[in-house]
Amino acid sequence: MKNFVFYNPTKIVFGKDQTTNIGRYVYGTKCLLLYGKASIKQNGIYDKVVESLRKNTVGFVEKGGVQSNPVLGFVHEAIDLARAEKVDSILAVGGGSVIDTAKAIACGYYYEGDVWDFFTDKAAPGDALPLYVVLTLAATASEMNSGAVITNEKTKQKFNINAESLSPKVSILDPVNTFTVSKHYTAYGCVDAMVHLLEGYFTQDDPATPLQDGFVETLVRTLKDSTLAIMKQSDDYQARADFMWAATLALNGITTAGTGKHGFPNHMIGHSLSALYDLPHGASLSIVFPAWLNHYVRDKADKLAQFGNAIFGTSDPQKTIEALKQFFNIIGAPTHLSQVNIASSDIKKIAENAVMLAKKWGLHQYTEPVIEEVLNAGA
Ligand code: NZQ
Ligand code: ZN
Repeated sequence: MKNFVFYNPTKIVFGKDQTTNIGRYVYGTKCLLLYGKASIKQNGIYDKVVESLRKNTVGFVEKGGVQSNPVLGFVHEAIDLARAEKVDSILAVGGGSVIDTAKAIACGYYYEGDVWDFFTDKAAPGDALPLYVVLTLAATASEMNSGAVITNEKTKQKFNINAESLSPKVSILDPVNTFTVSKHYTAYGCVDAMVHLLEGYFTQDDPATPLQDGFVETLVRTLKDSTLAIMKQSDDYQARADFMWAATLALNGITTAGTGKHGFPNHMIGHSLSALYDLPHGASLSIVFPAWLNHYVRDKADKLAQFGNAIFGTSDPQKTIEALKQFFNIIGAPTHLSQVNIASSDIKKIAENAVMLAKKWGLHQYTEPVIEEVLNAGA
């Protein structure tokens, strides 16, 4: 077990009908109520949230329209609105895109320069508005971590920030809110949470971490089983609840505590697919991750055998990769660039984009030729 510091300040309020309590938790007199395009007005979550805010005399100004793969231009607009309205907190009602946008607004609010400076490491986020969350899509764990990912639509960079001040104060996890998430986004959420777990599992530098490996394997199994159940019945409460909590635990710092250094190379490459083609995050990972495993199959043979035994009942590394791909395809996640209409002749362009993030993340072994090799291993 390697040394570690684990700190996670987010209060989780989990369970059926907890959405109606959000107004009790939001601090301050006027919040920025932030949401996505249309879903929360269609499924009734907006009405529940607004009623709870009114009941608890929390004022609000609202801004809808956050797009999936959220963009910098929207963040700028929302910072202007938040300042003009003098809000004292942000309430994000949505999935990772809404929460990440809220985090960027929260720290940009107090910064005189361009908030993008935080993403390019020209400046570090300091103070931030307090953030509250009603989660409507389980996938990213943004509801219980300190990171955010935004795309600069002009430079085609999908970059992240990370700061303790960005952790939500309170996140409501009401599985009922996710009953209306489509099969596609349920599949993408499953892939995303699994890859969060497996990036660490396959790249960590401590070879002996039975406790953490056990966490990861249990969470992956839970995600797999609950996703298959949700595909049969969208309002299966038990399955939605298991899925939701597993996705949160997959990237809240718990599973990598004690595992030492680890990287996110699949996210590094996946972010370029989203930046260049607006591909949903989970779909980018279901393409990149099996390719990455193929590329490193010899290096990772022992861990692949362990993973295969735990999840798919095989200790053959190649069969394990095939079983994972098959699972992704069964739930409706793509595993090949051609399935999302990206030509393999674009691989060079993707690698040129991805290497910018490799540099930011210190993944120096991922040069352009290496990234091309990884993507070609999925061809
Ligand atoms: O915009 P609306 O109409 O609300 O529709 C959304 C959106 O189209 C819809 N949706 C959300 N809740 C729903 C629902 N539809 C029906 N019923 C509901 N209850 O789902 C679509 C996708 O939403 P989005 O928020 O984009 O999905 P997700 O939660 O997967 O977030 C993806 C973003 O998070 C980033 C990704 O890169 C991507 O930009 N990530 C954030 C991380 C973090 N902060 O820690 C880590 C991740 O690795 C990831 O990078
Ligand atoms: Zn992810």
